[in-house]
Amino acid sequence: MRSKRIVHTPVLLHEVLEGLDLKTEGSYIDATGGEGGHLKEIAKKVKQALGIERNKEQLARIQELELTNVVLEKGNFAEIEKIAKKHGFENIDGILFDLGLSFWELVHLKKGFSYKKDEENLDMTLDETGQEKASDILNKYSKEELYEMFSRNAEEPKSEKIAEEVVRQRREGKFVNVSDLKRAIDSVFGAEDRRVYSRIFQALRMQVNNEKENLEKGLEGAVKILKIGGRLVVISFHSVEDRIVKKIMKKNNMELITKRISRYDDMSFERSATLRVAVKKI
Ligand SMILES: C[S@@+](CC[C@H](N)C(=O)[O-])C[C@H]1O[C@@H](n2cnc3c(N)ncnc32)[C@H](O)[C@@H]1O
Repeated sequence: MRSKRIVHTPVLLHEVLEGLDLKTEGSYIDATGGEGGHLKEIAKKVKQALGIERNKEQLARIQELELTNVVLEKGNFAEIEKIAKKHGFENIDGILFDLGLSFWELVHLKKGFSYKKDEENLDMTLDETGQEKASDILNKYSKEELYEMFSRNAEEPKSEKIAEEVVRQRREGKFVNVSDLKRAIDSVFGAEDRRVYSRIFQALRMQVNNEKENLEKGLEGAVKILKIGGRLVVISFHSVEDRIVKKIMKKNNMELITKRISRYDDMSFERSATLRVAVKKI
């Protein structure tokens, strides 16, 4: 008999379940399955739920939980409307987006997501859809493109200097692993700065995986398939993401019932979670 895996405590669990306003007969979607932490708790309270997950290793971990009333789909939440239709999920009561990476992915995928893993290759792809790897971007983008990426995705004040340093350093040798990028950042700051590492690594990951565009599409799709009165619950870890969340909720005239709950996620990696809950009105 297979031993049951212990699932981590999902971020803001109580607030998420309350935000979704779960009803036994309702129809719910977890757009970011992850470890299955939230999904498992949702599944205990409702008849059927749909879980979407982009990363195949993560999906396999959710499958191990053997949640009999959960339909799983490997896919990108940007396609939420199509995926929901495919599985007959319509007039949805509640949809959850818990953005970013799970702690497990950060530790086990070995794709250079974390600045703490010097020897890992700078890959950062979450699925196999043929995106450029992080190292390709660093080795190929022009100085202006690198500047745009760092300033827009990370809001890093020294983006221009970092972009210049990346271009200078790659003339000496291509970017391959995590320590190469840290070296470029250190040259600009003159010392190690974990906050800057964190911001720049996140900016690169967002670029590799097209995260801002996916989020916009995913949220727009989610609003379309929610029923009137349905709930959209979003946890973000970055002001750039949170701004997109607020924009889409406002644009669709949703009522923001939980304006903002922020919680420092100590289990995880130096990040602070922001939860927003909105109701579809029209
Ligand atoms: C923070 S984790 C979710 C954790 C989950 N709520 C739990 O309790 O275990 C975010 C997950 O979303 C997945 N993900 C990221 N972008 C995605 C996308 N565009 N479509 C579907 N899943 C995505 C990641 O692979 C990761 O597993």
